[in-house]
Amino acid sequence: MTPTSERHWLRPTCDDRPARFAYGADYNPEQWPREVWKEDVRLMREAGVTVVSVAIFSWARLQPAEDRWDFDWLDEVLDLLHSGGISVDLATATASPPPWLTTLHPEILPVTHTGETLSQGARQHWRPTSPVFRRYALRLVEAMATRYADHPAVVAWHISNELGCHNIYDYSDDAARAFRDWLRTRYGTLDELNRAWATSFWSQYYGDWDQIQPPRLAASHANPTQQLDFKRFSSDALRDYLRAERDVLRRITPDIPATTNFMVMSGTKGMNYPDWAAEIDFVSNDHYTHPGPQRLDELSFSAALTHSIAQGRPWFLMEHSTSAVNWQPVNVAKRPGELARDSLLHVAHGADAVCFFQWRQSAAGAEKHHSAMVPHAGPDSEVFRSVAELGRTLETLTPVTGSVREPARAALVYDWDSWWAVERDSQPSSLVDYRQEVLDWYSAFLSLGVRADVVTTSADLSGYDFVAAPLLHVVPTALAGRLEAYVHGGGHLATTYYAGVVDENDHVHLGGYPGALRDLLGIRIEEFGPLRDGEDVQLDDGAVGTVWTDRIDLTDPEVTVLARYRTGDQAGRPAITRRVPQDGGSAAYVSTRLGSQGLPDVLGRLLSGAGVRSELPAHARGRVELTVRTDGSHAYWFLVNRTDEPVAFDTVDGEILTGPTPVAGGGLTLPPRAVAVLRVASGTDPFAQAG
Ligand code: GAL
Repeated sequence: MTPTSERHWLRPTCDDRPARFAYGADYNPEQWPREVWKEDVRLMREAGVTVVSVAIFSWARLQPAEDRWDFDWLDEVLDLLHSGGISVDLATATASPPPWLTTLHPEILPVTHTGETLSQGARQHWRPTSPVFRRYALRLVEAMATRYADHPAVVAWHISNELGCHNIYDYSDDAARAFRDWLRTRYGTLDELNRAWATSFWSQYYGDWDQIQPPRLAASHANPTQQLDFKRFSSDALRDYLRAERDVLRRITPDIPATTNFMVMSGTKGMNYPDWAAEIDFVSNDHYTHPGPQRLDELSFSAALTHSIAQGRPWFLMEHSTSAVNWQPVNVAKRPGELARDSLLHVAHGADAVCFFQWRQSAAGAEKHHSAMVPHAGPDSEVFRSVAELGRTLETLTPVTGSVREPARAALVYDWDSWWAVERDSQPSSLVDYRQEVLDWYSAFLSLGVRADVVTTSADLSGYDFVAAPLLHVVPTALAGRLEAYVHGGGHLATTYYAGVVDENDHVHLGGYPGALRDLLGIRIEEFGPLRDGEDVQLDDGAVGTVWTDRIDLTDPEVTVLARYRTGDQAGRPAITRRVPQDGGSAAYVSTRLGSQGLPDVLGRLLSGAGVRSELPAHARGRVELTVRTDGSHAYWFLVNRTDEPVAFDTVDGEILTGPTPVAGGGLTLPPRAVAVLRVASGTDPFAQAG
């Protein structure tokens, strides 16, 4: 659903300035004395802040006891923000239940798979399926919505916070009951469930629904389909809770759009967000970077996936960090330029709001060493100066708001079912890492300077010239049919080891691997050849493979071998194959893990076979990331310097909205870690003259 309301986070509420990028942070005034609040609003204005998320962890302050409420302080905060021209994304405040509630109702606390009950004292200690928790939480949502329905500062609802961050998997009796209901809906009859779960294996036959449990700690590997279904159920159970809060809000404040902050990629893998997106009025995301060579690649990947989860509509970056976080083993500060570059990379992928966790760095509590817009050092600091500069940059980018990211010609498939299935226990190898494999393919696209969308299996692939679907392990028959149709319609597909092996119930497609994709790829594998940790194999094109190999037989004359194994048990056999059916595009198979270093070479060959080329001049490929946003009449080219060195372009055609001043003769030098945004007429290539 798209927000139709006059109240929208892009539109300031108290003056008639045009829509502009929303800019701000989580704001936790309850951690500070009143005197600080006025200073906060003054500094927010200085920094160009337009919106803050308030009351996320305020339940205990708003409802200090079961029948005692205190909204006065929040009234004052909202009035103050409004008088300063700052809009509010108001939380429903249900994220962290107060001690009086867990004392009164300890049965809302989550239970781990080993049967331990989690305690209060941190946050998010509630069961997604607890009817008692839901009753109390919805009472609070109702109170918030009723009280602030007409408050002019409120432009959006922020439902709970990062649902599932700490409580996605709960194995309590509440969860067991809800799991059975979910299974009844999915399977209808016990016969169907017994068939899907293959319960004739290990004497697991169920004769009554009440015999079914969540996959709690067991003597050996729990039933794989039970495990997969429990993952699906757990995601759906939290989505159901999300709906319950949203329904209260829609009933009382139908004109105020509601969101909940996702954690696409940087958080847990438990929430199938593509399934959640339709429940909210706009998608918002939280993202934190991880130090290491793929730091920026992963940021870009997450933003591209968020864009596709948002179905191409502008989305809200609800949280990221100005500098270090507090929850990694070593929390590294951002280097000069990284604060702005990280933010603008999200914008490049379609974000129309840039917010941080949090406004003012806490002086106490578990997150006191997490950076913020106003650090412990105060506003006289590099961080605050960079924050204010970013506020000005976003203002200059006002024309970009509302534009959408232009689709790429290549796509990379991300599939939650496959992610869940390949990383479960009892697999041929525990070294297979779904997220890492897909990220490595994305890194390879970046290093070739080729834009790629990140899509799910339900996406319409027909507009793409090239689709990579690494480790696409769970392939229901219908999906196999769609991939066949894609290739026979002229599309070029690439997949990898351990793809196509099982159906939606985790049952093997018999007759040889890659199961559902065997005919499409024109190959047959009788046995997998996983490699031990530290073991590798050489390919005859110079590449090195790890983790996996396959004993491949070619079954179709239309298949050519792009590389063979030179060493190891499969020496002499095909390692990378490509079938080019007469009536279509192509279908390629990469049977080993090549990693972000090895993939660019083969990906480059596959892309050129599909006619997909980089839009960047050769010297900038890999060093600069390009994304394009468009509003129909203009295109906005985002050039993001991924390196610590300057990158020079001899000729660039276009108006620079932000970035370095062009040099005489039409050249442009992007300083280290800098971003330039060029505006050109739609259909114009700024590098046309660059050759
Ligand atoms: C998020 C959370 C915030 C804060 C932040 C720190 O997971 O929503 O409340 O804890 O992480 O990085």
